[in-house]
Amino acid sequence: MKIAIGSDHGGFELKNFLVDWLKKQNYEVLDLGNHVYDREDDYPDFANAVAVEVTKGNADRGIAICGSGVGACVAANKTKGIRACVCHDTYSAHQGVEHDNMNVLCLGARIVGDELAKELVKAFLNANFIAEGRFKRRFDKVIALEK
Ligand code: RB5
Repeated sequence: MKIAIGSDHGGFELKNFLVDWLKKQNYEVLDLGNHVYDREDDYPDFANAVAVEVTKGNADRGIAICGSGVGACVAANKTKGIRACVCHDTYSAHQGVEHDNMNVLCLGARIVGDELAKELVKAFLNANFIAEGRFKRRFDKVIALEK
């Protein structure tokens, strides 16, 4: 599975930590930066880069990080086809995929530590959308809202 990941200065260290960890787990990682710490950088640039790679099909899932996760989430969701959410609990991190077909996980590096972030990413990446019955019906309604 190929993972696109990006963050501003607020998530810089957590992003680098997760990039290393994901590679050790044998995921293919597309690190979209920031590649240097720059306290003047802006979260929409990195969240958008993640969103674009996911919608282009260059990555299967995305992880967008900022200080709170909120800005990254708002920005990522501006791209059609992106279903991003801040999940700081493991239930939402997998259920968001299973029920809602979430394709970008947003994390707030000022809220979660490295170990919880790993658990959240594991829950997110190991989950699959249940593309049938009520989940499919609801997903189709969400897609219709985009049109
Ligand atoms: C940057 O300082 C911070 O505002 C940003 O990372 C994020 O928390 C926005 O939602």
